[in-house]
Amino acid sequence: MHLTTHGGDIYGAARRLGIAPQRVLDFSASINPLGLSPKARRRIFRELHSVCHYPDRRQEELRSLVASTQKIDPECIVFGNGATQLLYAVTRCLRPRKAMLIAPGFSEYRAALMSVRTRSSEFRLHPENQFVLRTDLFLRALKKSGSDCVLLANPNNPTCAIVPRQDLCRIASFCRKGQVHLVVDESFLDFSGERSLSELTSQNHHLIVIRSLTKFFALPGLRIGYLAAHRRVARSLAQAVEPWSVNALALAAAAESIKDRAYQKRTLAMIAEGREFLRSGFRKLGWLEVYPSSINFLLARSQRKEFSGQILRKRLERMRILIRDNSGIRGLDPQYIRVAVRTRAENELLLKALKVVSDQIIGSS
Ligand SMILES: Cc1ncc(COP(=O)(O)O)c(C=O)c1O
Repeated sequence: MHLTTHGGDIYGAARRLGIAPQRVLDFSASINPLGLSPKARRRIFRELHSVCHYPDRRQEELRSLVASTQKIDPECIVFGNGATQLLYAVTRCLRPRKAMLIAPGFSEYRAALMSVRTRSSEFRLHPENQFVLRTDLFLRALKKSGSDCVLLANPNNPTCAIVPRQDLCRIASFCRKGQVHLVVDESFLDFSGERSLSELTSQNHHLIVIRSLTKFFALPGLRIGYLAAHRRVARSLAQAVEPWSVNALALAAAAESIKDRAYQKRTLAMIAEGREFLRSGFRKLGWLEVYPSSINFLLARSQRKEFSGQILRKRLERMRILIRDNSGIRGLDPQYIRVAVRTRAENELLLKALKVVSDQIIGSS
């Protein structure tokens, strides 16, 4: 079993609680709370017969849809079994000598680099300036580190911080000139409404953009994602992905979800409303400091020692609610929690549960 810690383990929680997994309320994985797009759901049923055949190796339907929506060459796209598989394929293919990571950041970057024995160093983001990446300082540290690869998430998980496009373009051009591979993970970018960097890959051999389709389109159990890279680079990265990694139902569901504009609009409206509802609820508790976010999860820090992230996680789990604490996330102290934005009714349940926990702990002290 893989050793990195992640949110979203409804099966483990259900076993601990002795209940069915569907009864677990999961705020620990940041997945579209609307669930499947209705069009994707219908298509999955219609497409069930396709599981008796090998999936389309050229992934033609999804390839041309992604190419036209992202305005990129279809030959620059490589599909994979989620962003995670592509991340490991990229590190296997590039085999960097030394890589630079952002901390706090997504734990799989380090794991993927370790799997090919690449050393890595960290560029620390600080809570005092809301975990914002200071481009000048970052580029100076990158130069000094002698790294030949950078892996960064935009927006960053767990800090929610977004690097402005002009800063990312500066980093990309610095990396191109210095022959440093820049891997930008845009797995949560769709929730922000910002534009992808993928169209820049046609002019930059050193830029790889990874995009998950499991979060915005609620397909984490079906698994699908893609990367965009320069045509030549994409061709060699495609060799690092095992044949038939993406199954027929995932291809069909992703294509239908991308076409479902109404679902995308509803998602963005629900997330914007839910995020502000949770943010103000957290503030009202009086002991949770919330960091800025324009996406589908919030990072918050408990200002009372007796409410550490771990205590909150454990107490909420007893009430069937999963949140993320700092375990497995380097660069955060034990007071942090990360919470996904869910539906109005679910967000209300979380706030009520947090109030109960707060009253219990304060009442007994
Ligand atoms: C930044 C980031 N990238 C990628 C992933 C994994 O995406 P996928 O489900 O497509 O493998 C995650 C999952 O939490 C993530 O936080």
